[in-house]
Amino acid sequence: MDGNGRWAKRRWLPRAAGHRAGVSVLTPLLETAGRAGVKTLTLYAFSTENWARPEREIKTLMKLFMDTAREKVPELNERGARLRFLGRREHLPDSVLEAMEEAEDLTSGNDSLDVYIALDYGGRAEIVDATRRIVADGLSPEDVDEMTFAGYLYAPDVPEVDLVIRTSGELRISNFLLWQIAYAEFYVTDTLWPDFTPKEFLRALESFGSRSRRRGGV
Ligand code: FPP
Repeated sequence: MDGNGRWAKRRWLPRAAGHRAGVSVLTPLLETAGRAGVKTLTLYAFSTENWARPEREIKTLMKLFMDTAREKVPELNERGARLRFLGRREHLPDSVLEAMEEAEDLTSGNDSLDVYIALDYGGRAEIVDATRRIVADGLSPEDVDEMTFAGYLYAPDVPEVDLVIRTSGELRISNFLLWQIAYAEFYVTDTLWPDFTPKEFLRALESFGSRSRRRGGV
């Protein structure tokens, strides 16, 4: 969800206003995802690198995660979405953790759309954490293949990613789902996240639908 800061700067607003504007596009996008038949959607909300931001911005973001959970989770639950979180949990404030766990419990029986929120998430951290758990479980080298490894990721049931949408024109991956995006298609747009509309989301899906995916074959 990149570009909130620039969206705010262009309007002479504080960065927090950009993040709040970023939240306001979530509901229409999730509705569109459901209608378009998307089964799994992952939103990158806070990376392991985002802890390097000024303390004030981090506090604002944590509060926003709480407020957003309070406001959107009942709505998501009514729509039949299952909410899960990806990332490290040990550095997050207790209040945020509680809200995450409540949201996961409340929506655990739903199956119309899987929404994953990557929070304190880093692709490298995920790979390191999986490796640690494989070692801790005492697996021997010949027991570890791609399928076993994938089973140790934060959420083993996250399917391979089909499409990555990168807003704000950046041409980089920024540590996002490194394992899962091996064969993902990319849609990069200059649009800043708060301006990302359902119409453009549908354009991204159409663009994805028109690609020929050979996955290394011919
Ligand atoms: C990146 O834009 C955005 C973030 C670090 C925060 C995104 C979080 C939200 C929109 C809140 C959503 C909440 C939930 C629970 C899904 P940036 O600040 O890096 O923008 P910039 O690159 O223009 O400075």
